[in-house]
Amino acid sequence: MPERASTLAGDVDSLYLFLVGLTLVISLGIAGAITYFAIKYRRRSPDELPRPIAGSMKLEAVWSIIPFIVSVGIFVWGAAIYFDMYRPPSDAMDVYVVGKQWMWKFQHVSGQREINQLHVPVGRKVKLTMTTEDVIHSFFVPSFRVKMDVVPGRFTYAWFEATRPGTYHLFCAEYCGTSHSGMIGSIVVMEPTDYQAWLAGGRVEGSLSATGQKVFQDLACNTCHHGGGELAGRGPVLEGQFGKPVQLESGQTVIADEDYVRESILNPRAKIVAGYQPIMPTFQGLVTEEQLLQLVEYIKSIGPQGAAGAGPAGGTTGAPNPDSQRANPLAPTQPNNVQGGPGGAPGGERRGPQGPVRPEENRRPPQ
Ligand code: CUA
Repeated sequence: MPERASTLAGDVDSLYLFLVGLTLVISLGIAGAITYFAIKYRRRSPDELPRPIAGSMKLEAVWSIIPFIVSVGIFVWGAAIYFDMYRPPSDAMDVYVVGKQWMWKFQHVSGQREINQLHVPVGRKVKLTMTTEDVIHSFFVPSFRVKMDVVPGRFTYAWFEATRPGTYHLFCAEYCGTSHSGMIGSIVVMEPTDYQAWLAGGRVEGSLSATGQKVFQDLACNTCHHGGGELAGRGPVLEGQFGKPVQLESGQTVIADEDYVRESILNPRAKIVAGYQPIMPTFQGLVTEEQLLQLVEYIKSIGPQGAAGAGPAGGTTGAPNPDSQRANPLAPTQPNNVQGGPGGAPGGERRGPQGPVRPEENRRPPQ
């Protein structure tokens, strides 16, 4: 078996070894019983007739109840591991993954990008938000016992916590065309200090959320999605919304998660927020998968998660404070013009990352 290098590996192996052991015991038991009965009850003379057998309730009960208990036990055990694996913990570090024929592209929140290689710190939970530009791929790291399909048109998630430094194989585990077997890479697990050094060493144009903010402005999303200005109110204000429930025009409520953001960009009319008109055009074909991830990270960065002290529990004052929403470690107080660079943002609006936020407006869109 491959090396065990993640917190989940031991659990997965225990279940796997239990299943293999159980299969061996049952197979050998059945083969042994067949052999034993074949010899014991063989026909000893050509005219011998067997004694009729009436059956046994006790025996039937035993061979029904024991396998029932064992198989339900396997189900419960397997389900527990499954939920552990497929529910990324909320305190995990985000990494964004885009599969493409035939490579793996990674984006770190701090702005680093990598191809076919992912650097992560040891002992830290890492959540992968994944998608693909073309066909289905599958992200597979045997040493972590992590395998998850990467599906076009949606996000899939996986997570792991590496337990020892080293370099581990990454495979594509879904046939995806000619060079499928070449769609491999490695996960480099580093000591936290080495990881910090690695992060500091890379050439970075700006954090992922800052890049996302630039995309947000380049696509002029900010003309409708902000609290002030002429066209304000045509679209909901996005600050503070990520991860929260959203009331829809249809009466339903959805959580503003990664998938909702993605869908609202590509298919804006699918889930209209209550109180708004379905006027937003689709951005299908105008944004790449990577830009979508950057936009998601930007909207996440202006959301309540990660905003230190924000929310009802954190503040000393009763009313939510717009400044506390700005306190976001991922996108430090970076004015617009810093990462604007040549070309800048069209419209040239000099809004800070969070702009003029009025929290009351976030919750109560104009009717
Ligand atoms: Cu990608 Cu196989």
